[in-house]
Amino acid sequence: MAADNTKARVVVEAHEVDTFHPPQKMLDKHPSKPHLSGLEEYQKLYKESITQPTQFWGRLARELLTWHKDFQTVSSGSLTNGDVAWFLEGEINASYNCIDRHAFKDPNRVAIIYEADEPSDGRNVTYGELLRDVSRVAYVLKSLGVGKGDTVAIYLPMVPEALVAILACARIGAVHSVVFAGFSADSLRDRVIDGRSKVVITSDEGKRGGKLIGTKKIVDDALRQCPDVTGVLVFKRTGADIPMTKGRDVWWHEEVEKWPAYIAPERMNAEDPLFLLYTSGSTGKPKGMMHTTGGYLLGAAATAKYVFDIHDGDRFFCGGDVGWITGHTYVVYAPLLLGVSTVVFEGTPAYPNFSRYWDIIENHKVTQFYVAPTALRLLKRAGDQHVRNQMKHLRVLGSVGEPIAAEVWKWYFEVVGKEESQIVDTYWQTETGSHVITPLAGVTPTKPGSASLPFFGIEPAIVDPVSGEEIHGNDVEGVLAFKQPWPSMARTVWGAHKRYMDTYLNVYKGHYFTGDGAGRDHEGFYWIRGRVDDVVNVSGHRLSTAEIEAALIEHAAIAEAAVVGVADELTGQAVNAFVAIKDGNDPSDALRKEFILQVRRSIGPFAAPKAVFIVPDLPKTRSGKIMRRILRKILAGEEDQLGDITTLSDPSVVEKIIAAVHEAK
Ligand code: WT7
Repeated sequence: MAADNTKARVVVEAHEVDTFHPPQKMLDKHPSKPHLSGLEEYQKLYKESITQPTQFWGRLARELLTWHKDFQTVSSGSLTNGDVAWFLEGEINASYNCIDRHAFKDPNRVAIIYEADEPSDGRNVTYGELLRDVSRVAYVLKSLGVGKGDTVAIYLPMVPEALVAILACARIGAVHSVVFAGFSADSLRDRVIDGRSKVVITSDEGKRGGKLIGTKKIVDDALRQCPDVTGVLVFKRTGADIPMTKGRDVWWHEEVEKWPAYIAPERMNAEDPLFLLYTSGSTGKPKGMMHTTGGYLLGAAATAKYVFDIHDGDRFFCGGDVGWITGHTYVVYAPLLLGVSTVVFEGTPAYPNFSRYWDIIENHKVTQFYVAPTALRLLKRAGDQHVRNQMKHLRVLGSVGEPIAAEVWKWYFEVVGKEESQIVDTYWQTETGSHVITPLAGVTPTKPGSASLPFFGIEPAIVDPVSGEEIHGNDVEGVLAFKQPWPSMARTVWGAHKRYMDTYLNVYKGHYFTGDGAGRDHEGFYWIRGRVDDVVNVSGHRLSTAEIEAALIEHAAIAEAAVVGVADELTGQAVNAFVAIKDGNDPSDALRKEFILQVRRSIGPFAAPKAVFIVPDLPKTRSGKIMRRILRKILAGEEDQLGDITTLSDPSVVEKIIAAVHEAK
C-alpha cells in the first residue's frame, strides 16, 4: 500500500539523523548550571504542566512575575468556547515587570545594547535610564490624549526608542500596535484604522544597511486616510528635514523635556490587552492578533528562562525586528523580564560586511544569539572566512521562523558555535506568543531539523486533516494542533472573534489549529513540515497569497492574479505570481516590473514577487476556483504530475501556462 511505504520511509529517515546532546564545552563555560538538571526533570515538570496546569502555571507566574495584586483563579474558559483567560483577578503592569524591579535593584545594569546601523554609533541604556525614558514618554502619550485601553500605533526602526515607546504604552495601559517599518503606507493605514489607533509614534527617517528609509513620509501618506489619528510623536533619528503637521505632529525630544522622570505604572488586569500585532492569514485582510498582559508575560519569561537558559548577567541578542512577534517577545519582553541586557540591532547582517553579526556577538560578549535560518543561509553562502571571531561567551544559538535545513543547522553549530553552543530550533507563531515546540538549552537532546519537544503546557496532537481525528502513537504525520490552552496564546482577532474561532478553534473542535503540517518521529520528536494553508514563508516573514493577489488586481492592467510560494535556496520560499492581463495591454518586461512595484507599494518591499508570469488565463474549475496546485506543480517542473485537469473549465490553458513559464526561464 502506498501509504505504508511513505510511512516506512519516514521511519528510516528519522532513524538516520544524528542526535546531539548539550555540548560539554557549553556546560564547562556556564556561569552556573542550566535551570533544569536534565531531560528527566523536564519530563517531570512537563507532565505536571499538562496534568496539573493550575499548580504548574500558578507557581511559575508567582515566581517569574511581580503582581500588584495576586490572582486567585489560574485559568478559565476552554478552546471549545474560545474564552480562555489566565490569572483572572491578578493585577500587573508589563513595564513595571520589565524595568522597575530591575532598576530598583541595580539602576546601572545595562538594559539595552544599541548597535546602530553604523557600527560606531551605538550606545547602552541602563535600567535606570530606561525607567526615566519610559516614564517621560508615558507622560507625553497622556498629554496627547492617550488613556488606558487606547491603541497607539508604532512605526519605528530598530532603535532603543522603539522599546521605550512599547513600554511607555504598557506603562499607562495603552495597547501598542507595532507595524513593521517595512510596510507600505497603505498597509500602515489599514492597520491604524483596524486597530483604531489614536496616536502614531514614528521617526523622521530610519537607517538600515547604509540606506535611509522615509518613515515619517510613509506615516504622512498613510494618515491622509486616517481622520481619527490626533497625534504623531516623531523621534529624530537622522535629522532629516521633514514636514510637521501643525496641531498633530510633535517632536519626541522636545516633549520629553517637559515631564518628570517617574510615573507610576497603571495597574492592569491580567486579561487586559497588552498589544495587537497584525499577521497574514489565508484571506486578504491581515488579522490583528490580540495578546493580553499576564499570560503573555509569563510565556515570554518562562521560555526565556528555560529555552535560552538565561541567567543573571547574560547578554541576549535576537536579530528579529520589533515589527514582528519575534522582536516583541525576544528583543523586548523576554530579556527585560529576566533583567538581562538585550541587543537592539538597527542594521543588516551584510552591512558594512558579512561579519556584522559575529562582530556584535564578539564585542558585546553575547551569550545567546537568535535569528532566522534565512540570515544563516546568506552568511553561510558568503563564506566561512567572515566568521573569524571566537565568540567565546556564546552558549545558545537559536533558530526561528522557518525550518532549518540540516546542513545549515550543522554550519551554525560548527562554524558559528565552534561546537560549544547548543542549537535551539524554536517553533512558534504570532498567535502562540512564545515558543511552543522547542528544545531547552542545556537539557534537551536535539536533531538537526527538528524543533524537538513541546514546551511546558503544550499538549500537541497530530491530526489527520481528512478525518479530523487525532493520530496517536509515534512515527505519524498530519497537521499540528494543541489540545489545551496555554497562558501566552492570543485571545482573539481584534474586532473579529468569529474569524478567530473559525481560523484556530473551530477547525478541529476542542483544539487550537496551527496551520502547519508536522510529523512525530519514533522518539516523539516533532518535525515541522510547513504551512498547509495559503501562507507563504519568505525569509521567515509570513505572507498571505490572497493579500498579494488583492494587491496585484488593484493594478488597472490586471484582470486576475494567482500567487503561489515556490522553494527558494536563499529565502526558503519565494513569491511567484501568475497574472492574466486585460485586453489592450501588451505583455512586456516593463509591465511585469510595474506589477512588482504595485505589490511593493501596496504591501511593502519584502512581499514583492520574485517572478511574474503573464498568462492568457488562469487554471480554474467550472465554478471559478483557481487551481493553485497546478501552478505549483508547473513551477516545480512536475508537469507530468498535474493529475486530473479535465475538471478545469478550459484545460487548454495549462499548455499555455507551461509555455509561458518555460519562456521566462
Ligand atoms: C509560522 C509562524 C514566531 C516566529 C516567527 C514567525 C513557521 C516558525 C518555525 C520553526 C519551522 C517555523 C510556521 C509557523 N515557523 N518557527 N522553528 N520551524 N517552521 O512567526 O510570522 O507568526 O509565522 O512560521 O509555519 O506557522 P509567524
